[in-house]
Amino acid sequence: MGTVVEASSKEASGSSLSQKKPKVVFVLGGPGSGKGTQCANIVEHFGYTHLSAGDLLRAEIKSGSENGTMIQNMIKEGKIVPSEVTIKLLEKAILENENDKFLIDGFPRNEENRAAFESVFGDLQTGITPEFVLYFDCPQEEMEKRLLSRNQGREDDNIDTIRKRFKVFLESSLPVIEYYNSKEKVRKIDAAKPVEEVFKTVKALFTPVVDKAAA
Ligand code: ADP
Ligand code: C5P
Ligand code: MG
Repeated sequence: MGTVVEASSKEASGSSLSQKKPKVVFVLGGPGSGKGTQCANIVEHFGYTHLSAGDLLRAEIKSGSENGTMIQNMIKEGKIVPSEVTIKLLEKAILENENDKFLIDGFPRNEENRAAFESVFGDLQTGITPEFVLYFDCPQEEMEKRLLSRNQGREDDNIDTIRKRFKVFLESSLPVIEYYNSKEKVRKIDAAKPVEEVFKTVKALFTPVVDKAAA
C-alpha cells in the first residue's frame, strides 16, 4: 500500500499540488443530504470538477485494486476508510485533471481525513485551503427516506448500514464541520427543501459579487 509520503513524491517530479494550486470547495453533509445531486448542478453551471470520495473508493473496488476488499468491507459497515487510501485517490484525480477547481464531496469525513488533507495539501496558513465548506443540513428522517429510495444498487443503502452511517456522521463528521465553522469557512444550507430550491441557495454562493450586482 502506498503512503501519504509516497503520494507527495510527485513534488520532486514536477506535477505537484503546490505547483497546480487547485481551488477546492469541500461539500459535506449527512448521507443522503443531496451532495452528489447539487454537485452535478454546480459542475453544469460553474465549471468545477466533481470528485466524490465515495465514488473514488467504489471505483477502486471495481478496479480490482489490492485495497478493494478492505474498502468494500469498510463501506458495508459504514466505516471511514483509512485516510492514506482516500487522500491518494483524491490527489491523483486532481493531478490527472486539467481543471483547476474542484468540488471535493464527502471528504474530510473525520479528523484523520482532515489531518491527511492538511499534510498533503498544506495547512490553513500556508497551503491549499478550501475556499469554503458547503454544508448540506438535513433532518435524519428525510435522509433515511432518500437513501432507502435511491435505487443505485449500493450495498450500503440498507437500513442497518444507513443507521451506522448516521452514527459515524454525528460522531466523526460533524466535529470536522464544527472545526471549519470555527474558521468561518462553513456555508450552511437547508438541504431539506426541493432540489431546485436548494440549488438557488447554492448558486448564490458560487456567483461572484460583481455578477450579482450586474444581475
Ligand atoms: P448524497 O450524495 O449526499 O448521499 P444524493 O445526492 O445521492 O446524496 O441524494 C440522495 C437521494 O436523494 C438521491 O436519490 C437523490 O435523487 C435524492 N435527492 C437529492 N436531493 C434531494 C432533495 N433536495 N429533495 C428530495 N430528494 C433529493
Ligand atoms: O459519500 P458516500 O455516501 O458515497 O460514501 C460512502 C461510503 O464511502 C462511506 O459510508 C464510507 O464507508 C466511505 N467513505 C470513506 N471516506 C470518505 C468518504 C467515503 O471511507 N472520505
Ligand atoms: Mg454522494
